[in-house]
Amino acid sequence: MAYPKEFLWGVSTAAAQVEGGAAEDGRSPSIWDAFAAEKKVMNAKYFPTACDSYHRFFSRDLANLKALGVNSYRMSLSWSRVLPEGTGKLNEKGVDYYKRVFEALLEEGITPNVTLYHWDLPQVLEDRGGWANCDCIQWFGEYAEKMFRLYSDLVPYFATVNEPIATYIGYAKGKFAPGHRDETLGNRARHNLLVAHGRAVEAFRAVASKSAKIGIVIDVWKRYAKYPTEENLAAVRDEDERNWKFYTDPVLGGAYSDYILSALAREGTLMEIKEGDLALIHTPIDFFGLNIYDRVLINKGKKGAKKLLAGGNQQETRGGFDPHVIRDVVRMLREMYSLKLPILITENGKGTYIHECSRGGIIRDKKRVDYFKSVLDEVERANEEGLNIAGYYAWSLMDNFEWCAGTMIKYGLLHTNFKTFETKWKQSAYFYRDYIASHRTDK
Ligand code: NOJ
Repeated sequence: MAYPKEFLWGVSTAAAQVEGGAAEDGRSPSIWDAFAAEKKVMNAKYFPTACDSYHRFFSRDLANLKALGVNSYRMSLSWSRVLPEGTGKLNEKGVDYYKRVFEALLEEGITPNVTLYHWDLPQVLEDRGGWANCDCIQWFGEYAEKMFRLYSDLVPYFATVNEPIATYIGYAKGKFAPGHRDETLGNRARHNLLVAHGRAVEAFRAVASKSAKIGIVIDVWKRYAKYPTEENLAAVRDEDERNWKFYTDPVLGGAYSDYILSALAREGTLMEIKEGDLALIHTPIDFFGLNIYDRVLINKGKKGAKKLLAGGNQQETRGGFDPHVIRDVVRMLREMYSLKLPILITENGKGTYIHECSRGGIIRDKKRVDYFKSVLDEVERANEEGLNIAGYYAWSLMDNFEWCAGTMIKYGLLHTNFKTFETKWKQSAYFYRDYIASHRTDK
């Protein structure tokens, strides 16, 4: 059967993108609050309030989750809400908020799937060097252990970090918080983040409830050559290595590839890899979280050939979406790393730039509906093929703060009004609700 009884049907969000309540109840700023305050994101004024889930989770979000019929909700914790100093003393109000959220979800039969780090490092830790400082491994380890002690009786699924590439972008490319532009720093930061992931898994095994599971979430934007020229094939290799393989190789395979090690050494940006680091990064996990939106077509082509944008999100590879990438990537990971673990699709969705307008009381986002339809078909095929996808989470429950793109890019099943915080169901939300209802086998 394509969808076993335990299949997780969900939607995803992240704390910084939906919570708001930025300065409330003892929360301290994260690097993204600082980035937004410096106006390095669009619509920065909405960042401190976002979707206001901090105040509306119980009255609005939970009701929407119930109505969608999901049996799981993927969310993240705001590190600076529970540990405003980054380490040390817990903030009781923050701790209590998440406890109430988890209890309310469980009460409704919705399984929490909780990411510890979805890009929002406490600014106080960035002030001490952030991820570029190897002490951050210790800081994250402490935070993780505290969260496992507090919540692992209530939370069946934890992920350590979400999309580690974001840390590289923030330290090497300057495009994400904290905004550094230094390749060496970027490589050091992403390596430290991976070691910190391993440290957290170690803490999990030591203190967490035995029934809970731990994983990591990595995004794979598989590159394909538009034409199989030598130049295109070399570029595919290079981009795959520098992007997702930088993370999947050590986490799932236990080592960085020779290709990336020699490329970084040649470029003079190779990070120090201490003894024991790789073993820690490779500490066994219980599931692999895959964020997958689209493939990326590479066409270095001859002069004047249409340039296809490399990387980024679905809307950037316009015209190129191919749902087969879902099955291809899952199959590829299974083969590449002899991967037996369950794979959860922890994010998948379609962003649109345009303001989606409502006709006849419903927002008609037909393109998003078609996108989800084709992806879910692929998930079904993949499971029929025995590829063991154990859950699917649509990104996102509602339009939220899309990092640098602010409120401009919309990924929600539900529309969000960022002034009134009202949400409105789009056609895609009805589609997903009905799809779940006709495929869920656990009730
Ligand atoms: C990746 C990230 O995990 C999430 O935060 C982001 O909003 C979506 N994909 C869409 O870009």
